[in-house]
Amino acid sequence: MQTNRICDLLGIRYPIIQAPMNWVSGVSLAAAVSNAGGLGTLGPNAGEKERTRDPLVSAEGVRRRIREMKRLTENPFALNIPVGFTEKERLHSEKTVQVALEEGLPVAIVSVGSPNVYTDVLKKGGTKVFHAVSTKEHALKAESMGVDAVICEGFEAGGHKGFTELTTFVLVPMVADAVKVPVVAGGGIGDVRGLLAALMLGADAAYMGTRFMMAAESSAHAHVKETLLGGDDVCTVSLKKRKMLARDFRNRFSEVYSHMLANGASVDELETFLADHSQYHSQFLGHADMAEICCGQVAGLVNEIEGAGDIIHKLVEAVGFHIEILKEKARPFGL
Ligand SMILES: Cc1cc2nc3c(=O)[nH]c(=O)nc-3n(C[C@H](O)[C@H](O)[C@H](O)COP(=O)(O)O)c2cc1C
Repeated sequence: MQTNRICDLLGIRYPIIQAPMNWVSGVSLAAAVSNAGGLGTLGPNAGEKERTRDPLVSAEGVRRRIREMKRLTENPFALNIPVGFTEKERLHSEKTVQVALEEGLPVAIVSVGSPNVYTDVLKKGGTKVFHAVSTKEHALKAESMGVDAVICEGFEAGGHKGFTELTTFVLVPMVADAVKVPVVAGGGIGDVRGLLAALMLGADAAYMGTRFMMAAESSAHAHVKETLLGGDDVCTVSLKKRKMLARDFRNRFSEVYSHMLANGASVDELETFLADHSQYHSQFLGHADMAEICCGQVAGLVNEIEGAGDIIHKLVEAVGFHIEILKEKARPFGL
């Protein structure tokens, strides 16, 4: 079998990683992706029936899901570990890391926090560590901490994506030139053109969130999927949330939140509003208008709900054809 260095590192067939999505990427989606030859990733809350603020309860949920994944696929898979910035968030991630190590997690996708917190302990426990970054400096720091690969998340991406407006097109080649570890490109990849572009930019694999949120197996609520099918090229907006930027679907939630930001709402007011209209309310309860729906700009490219395996097979099948198109377009260069 032909491989590349990400496939070798992970033991997967295709350099396609389904990105973690909080309430959306549960066992069904992640197992379907891993079984189709990509890398499926479990999100922090996906598969839960209710919200919990108890780190022990939440970590036991993670344990159940890792065990279920091992039952559903023999292939490698990942778990998202958001490090967190506050003491409370760290308590959650510490317990998650402990359970991940006890359960022999193959791959951790670590995000929302510093690579110096868990890289060492995870690696010593035999888990491969991919760290999500949004600048070259952050990528170099992650590399110096010993991560196995860095994931570049561009401004187009859905969900939280760092502190800058660097796009995938610009961030990926700069990081690829700067680090020696494999690079994964995320943000704005919705079809084979994005996948091949990511590889051309210097990435070793593509990281796709929004495309897989619209997969049949994703646990995004049906109302959310229907709403996103109506999305166009301007259906998302980047919002400042705490210190970070987050990309969401434009709806009543994003309008009210933007208005609150513009009118100087206090941190407490913003936090309360976010907690009362969170992704739990959209993705789990189905409030598609007055709740936050994280999604990437690429939502406008997704026009149908398909099985995750079909998404991967179609991507793979289309690669050869699109390389021929590229050759045709590159003719003026004497190729
Ligand atoms: C609904 C949704 C939820 C997300 N939740 C998380 C999360 O819990 N942790 C995380 O690291 N990234 C999260 N992300 C970001 C994705 O992992 C990934 O970076 C992004 O989707 C890639 O860009 P794309 O949406 O253009 O494919 C989320 C994205 C979406 C769309």
